Amino acid sequence: MTSSGASPRYALIAGSGFRDFATDSASQQVDTRYGSPSSPVRELEYGRHCVYLIARHGENLQIPAHRVNYRANLAALESLGVNCVVAVNTVGVINESLEPGQLAVPDQLIDYTWGRDHSIHDGNADNLQHIDFTEPFCAELRRKLLTAADAAGVACHDGGTYAVTQGPRLETAAEVDRLARDGADFVGMTAMPEAALAMEMGMRYACLSLIVNYGAGRGQASIHEDLHAYTATARMLSMKLLREFFHRV
Ligand code: HPA
Repeated sequence: MTSSGASPRYALIAGSGFRDFATDSASQQVDTRYGSPSSPVRELEYGRHCVYLIARHGENLQIPAHRVNYRANLAALESLGVNCVVAVNTVGVINESLEPGQLAVPDQLIDYTWGRDHSIHDGNADNLQHIDFTEPFCAELRRKLLTAADAAGVACHDGGTYAVTQGPRLETAAEVDRLARDGADFVGMTAMPEAALAMEMGMRYACLSLIVNYGAGRGQASIHEDLHAYTATARMLSMKLLREFFHRV
């Protein structure tokens, strides 16, 4: 049970590290009041759980972060009864004590995105709600991810601030310096508006972030060399963690 009393029903929204994740599973097309989600919704068997999966950037990675229909993705999951979303995403690292190839479960975010449909409240004043976004991620879901990491023997950083940038280009070195001054530990492109929409729709939401490169201007190699070198490792660790997570929840 979740602390609100409802039985948990899980979904993964997975990003670019997960191109060939469970391609042979059953899938369904779900249409929503916001249009079509990024991909058909796949059904994964994880032990006794049926876990829904949406490929955030489409099945061929064709949808950049600023064009993802975040509202449709979450509304599709909501219509299937999902109330717990694990958002798997890739990030660059800013915090100097962390390295590419590692995992993290952030506990805060700063939103630098613009022009995205970031709310389900866009004109119907009857339903207008100002969600309390002080804690953008679900503490219980975060804890379960970290417990699963421990049990699976996968190192996973607890906490940190995820700076959400617009993309699709990567940042300049000066922009990453500014994000560091703002207190960011990681930089990625997708946690917003996803986290806020999930909360507006009453779903628990936490990120499992795969650190796949040093933020611009911070590493020895180019960002694309980092991505090439570290994505597979971080992805393999995240799958190990998720197997343990769904075994335990
Ligand atoms: N910046 C923004 N988004 C990202 C990065 C980055 O360095 N790495 C992975 N997603």
